[in-house]
Amino acid sequence: MSSGLILGIESSCDETAAAVVSRGAHSLSSVVASQIQTHARYGGVVPEIASREHLRAILPVVHSALRQANCTLDDLDAIAVTSGPGLAGALLVGITFAKSLAFALGKPLIAVNHLEGHIHAVFLNEQQSGNDLTTEPALALVVSGGHTHLYTATPADGTWSYSLLGRTLDDAAGEAFDKVAKLLGLPYPGGPWIDVLAPFGNPHAVPFTFARIKHKPHLEGKAPRTKGAKTAPIAALDPHLLFSFSGIKTAVLRYVELHGLRSHDTPDVIAAHFHTRPQTQAEALALCPQIVLDLIASFQHAVIGDLLKKTYAAAESTGASTVLVTGGVAANRELRARFTAESTLRGLRVAFPNLALSTDNAAMIAAAAWPRFIAGEHAPLTLSAEPTLALGV
Ligand code: KG4
Ligand code: ZN
Repeated sequence: MSSGLILGIESSCDETAAAVVSRGAHSLSSVVASQIQTHARYGGVVPEIASREHLRAILPVVHSALRQANCTLDDLDAIAVTSGPGLAGALLVGITFAKSLAFALGKPLIAVNHLEGHIHAVFLNEQQSGNDLTTEPALALVVSGGHTHLYTATPADGTWSYSLLGRTLDDAAGEAFDKVAKLLGLPYPGGPWIDVLAPFGNPHAVPFTFARIKHKPHLEGKAPRTKGAKTAPIAALDPHLLFSFSGIKTAVLRYVELHGLRSHDTPDVIAAHFHTRPQTQAEALALCPQIVLDLIASFQHAVIGDLLKKTYAAAESTGASTVLVTGGVAANRELRARFTAESTLRGLRVAFPNLALSTDNAAMIAAAAWPRFIAGEHAPLTLSAEPTLALGV
């Protein structure tokens, strides 16, 4: 008899996560061991360290997910795991563990695309509040440290099909948040720090603009630098739905240098003034002069404005009535407020995962695996990591 329980395992970047989800709709447990503290001292994720930390964490994390769900391995219907995109060594830890479990228990193994997982985080969140968003096509913006991708997600005979509409040509939006924060002297990952500081600045102080991206036939088939994004040829996508966040990062750097906010022998703006690093958000607020708070607010306002403009252009061109925003950057408060306001204005439905489901977790992996389990889409035990796995066509 089917229990409806799937154990999800996620280890694509710097979070080791396991969760038990019932029928893709109700999370019984979701455990996340974050490596942020370990990587923070290097200012970003160090792949070798990530693999080692996953190895250390995976067994206790899976144990505690089962314990919190009050179930045993025998109660499970299947084991689901992220197979890509992500860091090869990091992915391999989760995949090897999941394969061993599936083999030892004689239970199906389900491979899940991390990006599909982020989209299902919204469905899971809504389902837990009694809303079913899984019956109609939706427009999804996946916006995180590794991705800025626009998809249509369409339910098809119990499973899902995805079509890529737009994506970043270079940095992901979260990457831009992290790089700007690093330049200013805020800890890694910078997104949440910028989110907290932005309301104290003037969002119109620095008029950042985004250049219009022209059709680029020479980029045909070229994979962008963004980690894990070997997808459809850029030339095949509508240029209005392409993103580029490397320019604004350079514009922030230029602004910092032009205004003498950093000297050549100091690594960042805060260090240039105070020779210290903020440990808390209150400390960061006290250490940032008004000109830096204005810069932070203007940067965030511009990035979110660009995400908003292109997402709703895509919604308009596809006729989607529901917009999903997911991934780490979807935790941002200004983003949520502005997307909610824009959707209300346009009479569209907008949905986000709760904060815990916005950043990397395994509940979204177990939820995305459910339709695949029902459809009998089992992965072979030869499953391997696919660092540049694409989603959709
Ligand atoms: O989805 P996620 O946990 O991992 C990836 O798949 O990348 O996203 C992490 C990213 C980081 O770049 C982080 O700075 C950003 O999400 N982030 C935020 C916020 N919380 C996390 N960015 C802006 N505002 C936030 N509140
Ligand atoms: Zn992610």
